[in-house]
Amino acid sequence: MERGVSVNLGNFLLSLSDAMDLASPEMAQHQQRTAFIAWEITKTAGLSEKMTEDIFVAALLHDIGFFRVEEKLAFIRFERDDTSPHCTRGAFLLNQIPFLSDKSDLVRFHHRKWCSWHKPIDTPYVLGSQIISLADYVERLVNRDHYILHQHDQVIAEIVSLSGETFHPDVVDMFVKTARREEFWLDLASPRLYSILLHTGPYKAREIDILGISPIAKTFKSIIDFKSRFTSTHSTGVSACATKMSGIFGLTDTEIQLMGVAGDLHDLGKLAIPERILEKDGKLTREEFAVIKSHTYFTYSLINTITGLKQIAEWAAYHHEKLDGSGYPFHCVATELDSKARIMAVADIFTALAEDRPYRPGMSKKEVIRILKKQAEKGLLDSRIVNLLLDNYHDIFTYVAGEQAKASELYVEQFNQPVSEE
Ligand SMILES: [Fe+2]
Ligand SMILES: [Fe+2]
Ligand SMILES: [Fe+2]
Repeated sequence: MERGVSVNLGNFLLSLSDAMDLASPEMAQHQQRTAFIAWEITKTAGLSEKMTEDIFVAALLHDIGFFRVEEKLAFIRFERDDTSPHCTRGAFLLNQIPFLSDKSDLVRFHHRKWCSWHKPIDTPYVLGSQIISLADYVERLVNRDHYILHQHDQVIAEIVSLSGETFHPDVVDMFVKTARREEFWLDLASPRLYSILLHTGPYKAREIDILGISPIAKTFKSIIDFKSRFTSTHSTGVSACATKMSGIFGLTDTEIQLMGVAGDLHDLGKLAIPERILEKDGKLTREEFAVIKSHTYFTYSLINTITGLKQIAEWAAYHHEKLDGSGYPFHCVATELDSKARIMAVADIFTALAEDRPYRPGMSKKEVIRILKKQAEKGLLDSRIVNLLLDNYHDIFTYVAGEQAKASELYVEQFNQPVSEE
């Protein structure tokens, strides 16, 4: 029988959370650090295992609704602290993941001040969102350029000054008790925080299979694609094209599902690339292209830290490699690129050529075919895979276009407009 895939949920979420905070050193590990603070407070408060897990996972993903790095940095720097679409968007995105949807209110209200609540603090989502709110605030107050134990008294004093207004007094008390221990602060500032959370945090013993992995990957696909309207359906297209070609190629059902996940996450590393480069209207400079080259490096290094997904990391991250070794950034050669990585490379080029870009409209079928054939003739792409695509062009094109139309509808309805917080 074919062996399915199984991964640790904590491992999976920690790596995806990491991906969202890579774009600037100023916000590196922001969500992990917030989750750590929130988790420590739940332990001090003696909350139930379920509440602890819910608060931890919501804190780990609390800013998934930020698509633009500049907007997120403005919040991290306290230049803005108003109601923001990122709370509503984040709640909407979390709602798409069946077993995480019940945590969406914790994300929706993570910037709501205590003085704006008209509910008792023992309402679970009120308490949970207050804990995340305080944890997020503390994380942003910490100055990363200063030694942690030279500033923690000041951070505690500032939080205490907000008691009763921004935060419920009980939540502030729980934090003060937690923050007495230097160990708490040293862990928070530790570069080893990922490993501390992985080995000791909630979810350390929870495994998920493909049914759990797929919806999370799909949500991350939206976060990657919605960074820019020019790429708002790109990963959807690549994933659809890769799964369709995998079926025709004769892969097993499990392999096809895994190719779908690899397609969804193939540009995960783009979360680390500034929008000004991704959306540049014109040819990239040498320096800018050098930055672009890091995106598949990050895709690989992020997915490869998830035990059990090594193959998916390769299929996803090798999409800019060429059979003759001239691709980037790994310079893999033909023997290192299996049929799945080769399918992904063709799916990526096909989808990219057919899409509008800031500097050109989508290409015609004739033009797409000409370019793919040329790359196969030059020995850059696998001619068997290119021929498979050309022989089934109509079917594949129709399927991909249909999936992209659905993604586009979601983007326009939910995200490509000002969203107000309820
Ligand atoms: Fe936030
Ligand atoms: Fe935040
Ligand atoms: Fe890419």
